Amino acid sequence: MHKNQTINFSFLAPVYDLLGTVCFLGKLHASQKKQLKHFPKQVKNILILGGGTGKFLVDLASQIDFESLTYLDISPKMISQARSKVIKEIPQLLPKINFICAPASDLPDQTYELIITHYFMDCFQQKDFELLALKLRNMLAPNGLWSMVDFYNESNSSSRSLLIRFLYLFFRVSCNLNVRKLPEFDAWFHRHMHCQHSQKLLNGLLKASLYKKI
Ligand SMILES: C[S@@+](CC[C@H](N)C(=O)[O-])C[C@H]1O[C@@H](n2cnc3c(N)ncnc32)[C@H](O)[C@@H]1O
Repeated sequence: MHKNQTINFSFLAPVYDLLGTVCFLGKLHASQKKQLKHFPKQVKNILILGGGTGKFLVDLASQIDFESLTYLDISPKMISQARSKVIKEIPQLLPKINFICAPASDLPDQTYELIITHYFMDCFQQKDFELLALKLRNMLAPNGLWSMVDFYNESNSSSRSLLIRFLYLFFRVSCNLNVRKLPEFDAWFHRHMHCQHSQKLLNGLLKASLYKKI
């Protein structure tokens, strides 16, 4: 995952939520919030990877009872924004949240009951996605859940392909993200996980799924 170590979302951090809301009609956040009703109300430990500004972290932590939550992101600005949101909105939960500013490849081996990758796995090229996905699968507790929300282009529609290419160009210029196409998420999850629930938004551009180990 060496190429990803040079990526830097810090420049986008101050405007990320606003941009997402305006460009995708609020659906980037809505797609994540809809996942909450499928999560158990009590979870021992949670891992959020590439959590960004912490908007979803606050929703999740306010609704799910947990013992510990690990929040990893490679961008120091994203981590500091997420931390500030917690301090402002749910300060009583701060001691239970472990903020780690590091690349996902540095994630220490541990078992989690709930793993969350929302608009994060699209930051990897196919090979790196597969390596990380396998690592996460192995870290999932036997009855654990993996919430995956991301961009998709299942039927290879030309308008969606164009939009996704534009998004990757935007992230290449603004964040130095060296990825040009979406990894084949469905093929991997179909092979390695069992889908509990799945929902498409924005005419199939976004998909939110919940997986268990086979
Ligand atoms: C597109 S943003 C999504 C943020 C958040 N999950 C959301 O949906 O609003 C991707 C996030 O993943 C982080 N990220 C990208 N590549 C990473 C890597 N290799 N290791 C850790 N974090 C990474 C970025 O810093 C950024 O905050």
